[in-house]
Amino acid sequence: MMREVREMTPRPQHELGAIWKRLDKFAEVKQPGEAEEPILAGPVRAAIYEWLTEINAAETLSAVGIKPRRSALLFGPPGTGKTTLAHHLSARLGVPLVAVQTEQLVVSSLGGSGRNVAELFSVLREADGRCVVLLDEVDSIGSRRSNDDQACAREMNAVLNTLLRYVEAFSGICVAATNREDSLDPALWRRFGMQIPVLLPGANERYAILQRYADPFDLREEDAELLTDLTCGASPTLLRGLMEGMKRALVLGPKLRRDTSDPVDVIGGVLASVRPPPEFDVPPLWESGADLGRLASIQWPPARKGVPDLHKERVA
Ligand SMILES: Nc1ncnc2c1ncn2[C@@H]1O[C@H](COP(=O)(O)OP(=O)(O)OP(=O)(O)O)[C@@H](O)[C@H]1O
Ligand SMILES: [Mg+2]
Repeated sequence: MMREVREMTPRPQHELGAIWKRLDKFAEVKQPGEAEEPILAGPVRAAIYEWLTEINAAETLSAVGIKPRRSALLFGPPGTGKTTLAHHLSARLGVPLVAVQTEQLVVSSLGGSGRNVAELFSVLREADGRCVVLLDEVDSIGSRRSNDDQACAREMNAVLNTLLRYVEAFSGICVAATNREDSLDPALWRRFGMQIPVLLPGANERYAILQRYADPFDLREEDAELLTDLTCGASPTLLRGLMEGMKRALVLGPKLRRDTSDPVDVIGGVLASVRPPPEFDVPPLWESGADLGRLASIQWPPARKGVPDLHKERVA
């Protein structure tokens, strides 16, 4: 499919641009060049790699009478990289991601939401496979159908039925994401060729995520391991916030005339404004009464890549 996507007669940029413009009210179009690769657990990486291989081997599969799967549902806690993963996938296929904020399809007028779903897929058909579509936060339409016969419940059931029909008929690659999988309608769940859990990172992934977002500072191995232990249960977004807070404090400290010579103060200060969502387990670093004194062993300030470590040179 990747080859098919690229070898199709190129549509003039302005035509594609006009198509994306018509999606403005529902979606953000993210270009392949802006994507970042999420750091994911081995089984999820393997599932995505397998899917890409399958999409690229459409002809080989067709010789044995099967087609590549065209859709996947990504589910898991907030901030684990579902939207990032969908964008990465589209980039690997060399096409933009049309990231639909599903709740923006919902309007209060009777029949309006269904018409929005129809309009979205009609514009997507014109894009002719030159994008991956992401139905982000799909639970805002795809929640369990209700037996309640109030007008509002009937309307939402109708919208969900419309969405199910369009997802089924859509011939491009469609990804949906939710962090409220428990509330999803079973029929919507089944409509996707794959259901991929994107869960909180394990220790190896946390280590790699901390190192990525500490860059250009270089955490020593033992320091990154200490932070990996203390952040057990943290989402990648929280880890990113923690490392970005640390970097911000380090580079702005002198301008703000703040003393940044103690890792316990600096990291402790970041914890005050970068916090896990209230409904989630609290990682050890954020627990009340956490022993922040353990942070004192971190090499401080961490070495900055490409900048000589003056402290070390002075000691030598
Ligand atoms: N697995 C990851 N590896 C590296 N960075 C990540 C990862 N997951 C999230 N991030 C960082 O956190 C930011 C937010 O992630 P993203 O929006 O993809 O999460 P999400 O799972 O879609 O969250 P939500 O359920 O709230 O929509 C990303 O821009 C990325 O920088
Ligand atoms: Mg998301």
